[in-house]
Amino acid sequence: MQTAEKTIATVDVLRQKIESKTARVGIVGLGYVGLPLAVEFADAGFTVTGIDVQESKVNGLNGGESHVQDVPSADVARLVAEKRFRATTDFSVVRELDTINICVPTPLRKTKDPDMSFIVSAVEEIARYFHPGLLVILESTTYPGTTDELLLPTFEKLGFKPGVDFFLCFSPERVDPGNPVYQTHNTPKVIGGVTPACTEMGKLFFSQALETVVPVANTRVAEMVKLLENTFRMINIGLANEMALMCDGMGINVWEVIDAAATKPFGFMPFYPGPGLGGHCIPIDPFYLSWKTKQSGIEARFIDLAGYINGNMPHFVVDKVQGALNNHGKPVKGSHVHVAGVAYKRNIDDMRESPALDVILLLKKRGAEVTYSDPYVPTLKLDGISLRSQPLAESAGKADCVVIITDHTDFDYQGLLDSAKLILDTRNAMKKFSSEKIVRL
Ligand SMILES: NC(=O)c1ccc[n+]([C@@H]2O[C@H](COP(=O)([O-])OP(=O)(O)OC[C@H]3O[C@@H](n4cnc5c(N)ncnc54)[C@H](O)[C@@H]3O)[C@@H](O)[C@H]2O)c1
Repeated sequence: MQTAEKTIATVDVLRQKIESKTARVGIVGLGYVGLPLAVEFADAGFTVTGIDVQESKVNGLNGGESHVQDVPSADVARLVAEKRFRATTDFSVVRELDTINICVPTPLRKTKDPDMSFIVSAVEEIARYFHPGLLVILESTTYPGTTDELLLPTFEKLGFKPGVDFFLCFSPERVDPGNPVYQTHNTPKVIGGVTPACTEMGKLFFSQALETVVPVANTRVAEMVKLLENTFRMINIGLANEMALMCDGMGINVWEVIDAAATKPFGFMPFYPGPGLGGHCIPIDPFYLSWKTKQSGIEARFIDLAGYINGNMPHFVVDKVQGALNNHGKPVKGSHVHVAGVAYKRNIDDMRESPALDVILLLKKRGAEVTYSDPYVPTLKLDGISLRSQPLAESAGKADCVVIITDHTDFDYQGLLDSAKLILDTRNAMKKFSSEKIVRL
């Protein structure tokens, strides 16, 4: 077949399958991002196959058990029973798939260089069973150029042409775990393809299940969009944290300052200080950008500075605990400090990069006895220490100081105030209370 005819044929076949929802959808990586996406497409009427390397997750899902807080097990069980969703560890199913979304982890190495090994390994497996007519969409957060430089050559080497034999896009994931308003289906989805035909196909695919799709010129723009979004947050949180340090030095309540500034109806957006950055995105993604941009001789100075300020917040928190204890005539060494909340943010169970881990280790290093409460995190293991979540009010009553790291809605803050001797509040969780027991960040 001539190339032009082949293009029309491949495009038309896949378009028709997507529009009729007979396209067989594959999601590689069934974590916080991949599983909600799989459920969304299954609910939209597609038959979805999830591929993950962790057998325990795959078995759990096939048995109707969800391991992701935002995805109810009942939804997984229903979709498995309706044969709309199944999970597997076997990549050979790629042979039968029409679309593949890659949602595997992209951590940083200790040196703050991107660790591409999960993407590389998923792409190599997909390449083994690659076939014409496949739409592949990378969703993992990564540096600009990944789709063009890493995925495209792998598939081209097999003798296939993008936009002709297959379709390749990047679409950044914007999931916000625990957000009751914005979930996968109503969060606008940005997409850029390696050719205009790829972008069109990706847009068509997402618009079957998601409310708003935002096409951009190419994969690099789409990759950069995600890094701008997360760098914007990281730097503004860095500014809020620096404000907190300055206000602390001047005896000003930073929370009151931010709330009053936020009454300005234009040109201001509030960001809040805290015990340090957490989660997989904000502390990590900007370093993907600074790593890549250094290769072009451009220093990402805002990112480095905000990284430095944010990275020092756990130390500042521990200094504040020490100062508060000293003001009560107690040294930190030998004192009992109870940490309220260890997840990286409110109402979720995700511990990745949580600043609570640094705070606990720093307190231990200074000789404090540390306990914690978190309704979402029953046990905690770090650096050879094993801890078990304790009831908040009871432990707070026994502790010399309670430090609030995560402001879970489930905590009984009145009960905490009644039982605690001293509270360091790093989240303004005790905003409505006025008491000499409370020391605010
Ligand atoms: N969690 C978030 O809030 C969030 C938000 C936006 C973007 N992201 C990005 O999305 C990507 C995925 O993040 P996540 O939070 O879902 O991670 P996760 O760790 O929750 O899930 C990733 C899954 O991929 C699986 N996996 C690893 N290697 C694999 C391979 N080679 N083949 C198949 N499966 C494999 C893991 O077993 C795991 O189940 C990351 O790049 C992350 O930066 C995450």
